[in-house]
Amino acid sequence: MRRVFTAVLSLTVALAIPSAAAAFSPGAPGLGDPFFPDQGNGGYDALHYDVAIDYRYDAQSLRGTVLMTARATQDLSSFNLDLRGLQVRSVRVNGRFADRSQAGQELTITPSGGLRAGRTFTALVEYGGTATPVVDPDESIEGWIPTPDGAFVVGEPQGTPGWMPVNDTPRDKATYAFAITVPKGKTAVANGKLVSKVTLGGKTTWLWKEDDPMASYLATATNGDFRFWKTTGPGGLPIYNAVDTAFGPEDQAAADEVLAKQGDIITFFSGLFGPYPYASAGAIVDDADFVGYALESQGRANYDRVPDEDTVAHEIAHQWFGNSVTLGSWPDIWLNEGFATWAEWRWGEEAGGPTVQDQFDRFYARPPTSSIWSPPVAGLTDPADLFTSSTYIKGAMALQALRVKVGDPAFTQILRAWFAEGRAQTVTTADFIALAERVSGQELSPFFDTWLFTAGKPVSW
Ligand code: TRP
Ligand code: ZN
Repeated sequence: MRRVFTAVLSLTVALAIPSAAAAFSPGAPGLGDPFFPDQGNGGYDALHYDVAIDYRYDAQSLRGTVLMTARATQDLSSFNLDLRGLQVRSVRVNGRFADRSQAGQELTITPSGGLRAGRTFTALVEYGGTATPVVDPDESIEGWIPTPDGAFVVGEPQGTPGWMPVNDTPRDKATYAFAITVPKGKTAVANGKLVSKVTLGGKTTWLWKEDDPMASYLATATNGDFRFWKTTGPGGLPIYNAVDTAFGPEDQAAADEVLAKQGDIITFFSGLFGPYPYASAGAIVDDADFVGYALESQGRANYDRVPDEDTVAHEIAHQWFGNSVTLGSWPDIWLNEGFATWAEWRWGEEAGGPTVQDQFDRFYARPPTSSIWSPPVAGLTDPADLFTSSTYIKGAMALQALRVKVGDPAFTQILRAWFAEGRAQTVTTADFIALAERVSGQELSPFFDTWLFTAGKPVSW
């Protein structure tokens, strides 16, 4: 009796208020990545970010405004962005002030009214604070990393929320515009094309626009004292280069020499994999070797020192494999690093160095106790293993072993199809295995079990 009454009552209420607020629920605060479960957020799809940052060099503090345009994918009562170590001053949703709270890397935003599924909305976040690098499980640093003359800005796997509120997941690519304000005379380099550079009152704002969808971890805004120039690559592709002025004449010359090869490397990989995926390219060569790694920021790799040619080829290869065809979950990192390493070897062969098979043989000669054989390439279980040698070297060897197994024509077709079909999307190891089997017409699960899923040195495959 009572039950019936309640049901009737709630039905009446629901009819009386068609957009009953009760139907709106909070977006998930994380997407449950096995390594970084709080990364990313549910309930919306970010489409575009307008990022404006004013970096105060003396205080190493930044003030930012980010306008995110997004589409709700559920009826939202609240939603989250990822932001680390910075303080929010105000939030507006669709132009109206919204409530917010911060805990850990979660910025929770509660608009005054719910956001309907399917509708586009804007979130404007004003924030600021001192730039403090994010420390990774492997103890490397990332995010907004202050340098003596500016900042080295890199985001893989979780550094971008260290300088901007963002849906920090490779599964939600978006376009970006960056207006980075630095003291006059300093250079700020972000992703995409340089739109303008405006100096006003002792400060210069560098406006960059990335019109191709980008995973958040590939965003950059590295700044400091740089020699900066634009050249063109294949088909008139704009190539923007920046080299730290702190380097001495020998390093400057070495940087020029290696950066001058970018066009040829892009041409070669475009022939091999399919057209270069972006509207611009280039390199940022910072004097920041305390960082300890380079990163394939979209269209514009960040180097923490003057790179060698192998490293430049590696970061350029990531533009296809990693940046365009992107892992959907971090334990699949070999889909980025194994492919970029194989491509790096392939460029080395093209440039007259050892062949890819020579590289395979050289590494295969390592004893079973070598660290390159473990952990297994795919399905890592520890985030501290993301950038260990097995994801790079054994991952690349797996691809070379596949090439020998299926033959070069089928292997090339596999790589081309992997790019063509995965372009601007996210993928999994299972997708790759399925594609390799489809294109080659072979049953490859024992092969992949050996190379990808088993620890130790493969003996037969
Ligand atoms: N993806 C980079 C490369 O191989 C390497 C990298 C990114 C890295 N983030 C890192 C290495 C953190 C060590 C620690 O080009
Ligand atoms: Zn890499």
